[in-house]
Amino acid sequence: MSNVKLSNGHQFEAAPDVSMLDAARASGLVLEHSCRNGRCGTCKAEVLSGTVIPIRPDLSLSADEKSRGWVLTCASAAVSEVVLNIEDLGLPADIAVRTLPSRIASLQRLSPDVLQIELRLPPNAVFPYLPGQYIDVIAKDGQRRSYSLASQGGADKNLELHVREVPGGTLSGYWFNDAKVNDLLRFEGPRGTFFLRESAGLDLIFLATGTGIAPVKAMLAQLAQTSGAAAPRSVHLLWGGRHASDLYWSPESIGVGLQYTPVLSRAGSDWAGARGHVQDVLLQTPCRWATTVVYACGSSAMIQSARSALAAAGLPAKRFFSDAFVSSSN
Ligand code: FES
Repeated sequence: MSNVKLSNGHQFEAAPDVSMLDAARASGLVLEHSCRNGRCGTCKAEVLSGTVIPIRPDLSLSADEKSRGWVLTCASAAVSEVVLNIEDLGLPADIAVRTLPSRIASLQRLSPDVLQIELRLPPNAVFPYLPGQYIDVIAKDGQRRSYSLASQGGADKNLELHVREVPGGTLSGYWFNDAKVNDLLRFEGPRGTFFLRESAGLDLIFLATGTGIAPVKAMLAQLAQTSGAAAPRSVHLLWGGRHASDLYWSPESIGVGLQYTPVLSRAGSDWAGARGHVQDVLLQTPCRWATTVVYACGSSAMIQSARSALAAAGLPAKRFFSDAFVSSSN
């Protein structure tokens, strides 16, 4: 076992065949992450000293980042004493990952290719999570697929998922052809570190594409319950799709005083709203970067483009939080 130390002094022991992300979790420390399979880049960390080895492909690291000593904590293991230039997130101890049964409570088409699914928990089950986190649904044959929770937890007992039909997708055939109310499904979670940070007095910007609106919906519902000094100064949501039917929910209904900019990339001539990509439309909007926090969820291409374009525009890297849709790890 090797000792791994973080920049806030917290430390954990790690085996050479276990990712540093999982080793930290086993010690009760949660590091920034999303996909856990090397594809999204959320868990990038700078190694200040020590030796780490890859245990799975680090698909979201550039050659330049590797040469500068960056690793993915989900894809690498410590083989000596290691110091990482990251901090753990200090998540509440009761947010533990667990596997639970559930039944489908309802199925509803939100658009031609998006289903809303509500999962009902067993009567006495307790499943704490933070608005914005995701679960892995486990099919009968053991296949898994990650879905963000559009529900916000607490009294919101059913879990709400937004599922886009993906031809040949891992569970798409089941959801769109076979799923029925009362079907029994297991799931594991909560996962991910896409949740609201400190918002008081700040300007919050949400970027979403397609069903990336699901965790944003949960976070906006949380904000709707925030008031007084804890409330943000402003909230701006930019939600993008190809066609108007892709924007299947009305954000104004959530009860937050927000600016909403729908953005279409393949709009017809009758569309009077913004066109193009959400990150490009945002860059045409005056922003106070010093007090702005951006939360982005959707396609990997949007996240990567937004991260680099907003950093170039002046957004500090530590104020960009994201959840990219990539394939599940197992
Ligand atoms: Fe490590 Fe996604 S690349 S969590």
